[in-house]
This record gives sequence, structure tokens and C-alpha cells, in this order.
Amino acid sequence: GSLQMYVDRLPQMPKLYAYTFEKGSLLVPINLTIGMFSKKWKFHRDLPATPVFVYGTSAAAATFPGPTIETLQGLPLWVTWQNHLPSSHILPWDPTIHVAAPASGGVPAVVHLHGGVHQPQSDGNPLAWFTAGFRDTGSAWSTPTFFYANDQQPGNLWYHDHALGFTRVNLLAGLLGAYVIRNRSFEPPLRLPSGPEFDLHLVLVDRSFAADGSIYMNSTGDNPSIHSQWQPEYYGDAIVVNGKAWPFLDVRRRRYRFRILNASNARFFRLSLSNGLPFTVIGSDTSYLPTPVIASTILVSPAEIFDVVIDFSKSKSPSAELLNSAPYPYPGGSALDSLSRKVMKFNIVTEASAAPDESMVPAKLTDYPRPELSEAAVRRYITMYEYDAAGGPTHLFINGKRFEDPVTETPAPGSTEVWEVINLTPDSHPLHIHLAFSQAVAARELVNLTEFSDCMTKENDAVRCGVAAHAVGKVVETPEHERTWKNVVKIDPGLVTTVVVRFKAVDRSSPYPFDSTAEPGYVYHCHILDHEDNAMIRPLKLIR
Ligand code: C2O
Ligand code: CU
Repeated sequence: GSLQMYVDRLPQMPKLYAYTFEKGSLLVPINLTIGMFSKKWKFHRDLPATPVFVYGTSAAAATFPGPTIETLQGLPLWVTWQNHLPSSHILPWDPTIHVAAPASGGVPAVVHLHGGVHQPQSDGNPLAWFTAGFRDTGSAWSTPTFFYANDQQPGNLWYHDHALGFTRVNLLAGLLGAYVIRNRSFEPPLRLPSGPEFDLHLVLVDRSFAADGSIYMNSTGDNPSIHSQWQPEYYGDAIVVNGKAWPFLDVRRRRYRFRILNASNARFFRLSLSNGLPFTVIGSDTSYLPTPVIASTILVSPAEIFDVVIDFSKSKSPSAELLNSAPYPYPGGSALDSLSRKVMKFNIVTEASAAPDESMVPAKLTDYPRPELSEAAVRRYITMYEYDAAGGPTHLFINGKRFEDPVTETPAPGSTEVWEVINLTPDSHPLHIHLAFSQAVAARELVNLTEFSDCMTKENDAVRCGVAAHAVGKVVETPEHERTWKNVVKIDPGLVTTVVVRFKAVDRSSPYPFDSTAEPGYVYHCHILDHEDNAMIRPLKLIR
């Protein structure tokens, strides 16, 4: 039978503060050591404990998801990441894709701080993996201690595994966690709901569980003669929030801030509330919106983050379910089953003596530079392809190239580029460009798509295949609540999406002098992890 919904209370993950105050006011940074541990985790009251791989300061403290790292804008942080994982994986993986191959076995892992601007040595390049005790390391590995400058605007980041060919299974196992950069001057006067009771994380994932509690993942691929285990997308039938399947949360009749992260491999969520309350969207990924936007639904792709306020004082009902209506695969997939239509439940508790709600949603949040197409030094065509055999997709590529093919995207540090991203596949792909802040400014339907696709499959050259003459269909607007500098941009099928990409150049002294052009460089990829692993990922290297 299936698990009963709304029986486990929503937890908040433990917080790891990257700073403290001495003598009341002296700000002192704290460096962190975080390990990856194998342990068991209770996902549901009625499910046996599940073997997981999770982050924590010790095996006992490790959680699914990992601890939330809290830091301040401009405060540098050193994190030493340690791999304490066992000699074999808890999930099936595929040796036939381009994959880390440690000589003495073990679980290869490396951490990427998603949304962060930092040196290549600290970026968690897929080739910078290491196994337990650094016994084996990938070709790009250089240091166990990563430096995060946090010299960027306040916002929501997350950290997760990025090991070559293991990313999808390492995240499925639990190697993910939230990370917040706060600002101490302009954020408090905004008076958004704050503090550990009213400023909460919701980290959403989908997982399937076997009867013994273990995470279920297929062990045979769709085209096993080509790839023994790889399948194009992992979907689980249970929806898990902060490590509990379909949890509930008691809330008061007041405003709450929720930082909603979709950390699923492949599932999109289109979220709404069953009692009709809207979301007031105040930000997405590492940026605020210029002004709050009221939205009745938000579509959250894998790796995307929405920062929202919900005002439960406006509720006409005593509870509200958080619902999902995104088909899978998105957008062309089959209808949803009844399990994945539900995410969690809010019980709205009326307390006669509750303190008044002093929070608010200000009319204006903050201003960032507008995306200016005219500032772009370079325009690139980036094309997404899927290749199929009898059983289904065999692999996906960007620009028809493998990860290991020579780098073709070499922006100048601090430059702005325009990427015309062409999606020739049936699925939407969340595009994540390391080191960059991106904003989709427009999208256009491709007319005579079959003809254009056929030409692209042969020639792989958008200009020669007449992209300008094909990109003349319907205009698709970016929803207002996504119009800010993001780390993930949804690229829908059959469209050319115009993305303004700002590559950051940080110059800040540290024991690893910032050199954004250094080896191993960065990557950009689709954040459907099963796509990223095989091999919708390309290198990105800055040039001077
Ligand atoms: Cu969130 Cu390159 O990843
Ligand atoms: Cu993809």
C-alpha cells in the first residue's frame, strides 16, 4: 500500500553558521569542515529507515538534506569537504557513460556551490572528484578546502554533488543542502517574515522507496545494449520535503517566507495552494525581484529556487495543501498520478494570544542592472539535442559535442553575452551556467521545426540552417516572477530562448588568488541530472 500523507511534521535542517559575534558585535568568520556520510534516514513514520549518503559535521549530525549553511554577504568562508563514503554505492550506476573511475573503487564525490561566484579550484568541477581519504582523485582535483568569497548579492544558493557521471545517483542518495547569503544592511528594513519560525526552507525531491525502505532506482537501462543502467529521467512516486514524505506544518494566521528549492533529478513542480491563496514571489535563485509579484502558480524546474511569502491570515479554510500539477516529463508527459499531485499540508492554527504579525511585503525590493542586449559583446547559438534508439533516448548533447571535446565557450571575465538557446528535444531543460547570472528576455517558436531540426542534425550550424528565418513563430514571454538574474533558466522545447548571461569577475585576495581563467575552468549544463550525466554538459573557460 502507499504511505499515508501528512503524518510527519516538516523539519527544518540544522543550521551551520559561518560566523559568530564576539564581545557582542565583533563579526568573526568560522570555517567549516563538512563530511559525506553513509547512514540511515527516516523518510516516513511507516517506512523502515533508508540507507542514504548525506552531508553533516559528523555521521550523527548528518541529515537529508544536509545542514543549511548560513553566511553573510562579503564574508569569506573556507569549507573542507571530506568523503567518508563506503567502498560501494547504495544505488546502481552506469560504467558505460563518461564517468569517474577511481582505481581503487569507492564513491567519487565533489561539491559544487550552486549560484556561487568563486575560483575554478573551488567550483566543484566534475573532474575534481575524490574518494574517501582522497585515495583517488580526478584530473582536476587540487585541494580539499574550497574558498567561497560570498562577495555577491544576498540570495539562495545550494550545495550538491557534481562528480563526473555520478551526479544523478549521488544527489538521489542525499548529497544536497541549502546555503543562504544574507545582507545585514538592506535586508532587515524590508521587514520580510524573518527568524527561525517564519523564514523557512522547503527542499523538494521525489523518490521511490522499496518495501524495505531503500531508495528504488532502476538497474537496467532503456537501451541496455548501449547503456547498461542509464535512463533519461529519474522520477519517484513519493514527494519528499525536507527529508519527510508528504509532511505537514502547523502555521499561524500570519505571513511566512518560504525558500522553495526543487532538488529533484528531473521532476518539475507547478505549485499552487488548495485554498486559493497566492504566492507573493520576492525572488528567485540568488536574486530578489525588483518588486514583489503575486502568482497563483509557480513552475519550479530542477535546481530552481523561488523565494515566496504566503499570508495565511487571508485563508478562508483551516488548512491548505501544497499541490503540484506539472506533468512528467515536462511539458509533454503523461498526466500526474494522485501521489505526485500532493506535496505537503499546512494546518492553519488560530491562537487567541499570538503576537501580532509585524512583517510585511514592501512594495519595492531592490534594483539590479537591467538585462541589456546592447551590452553583449558576443552572441552564441547553443543547441540542445537528444539522440534515440529503439528503447528511447541514448544520450543528450549540447551543440552536438561531448563534455570532453575542446572548450568552445570562452567568455571574457566580467563580460555580458547573449546566448540564443535552441531546444530541438521534446523536453524542457533547466540551463545552469556556472559563474554567471542569467536572464531569459524572450523566446520564439521555431516554425518548420522538422526541417530546421533535420538540417541541424546534419550540419550543427544554426546560421547555416537559417535560424533567423525559422525563429519567427509565436513569442513566449518570461513570466514576470522569473524576470531577475537567475542561476537556472528554463529552456522550453521548439523555441529559441534569448538569454542574457553576465559572467562575473571577482578579484579578491585569498590564498588561492582569484584567477577565473585558471584550470580546470567551469561548466554549463542541463540541470536534469540524468541529462547532465550523459552528457548535456560542456566546459566553460574564461579568457583574458
Ligand atoms: Cu547545480 Cu553544475 O550545478
Ligand atoms: Cu536536460
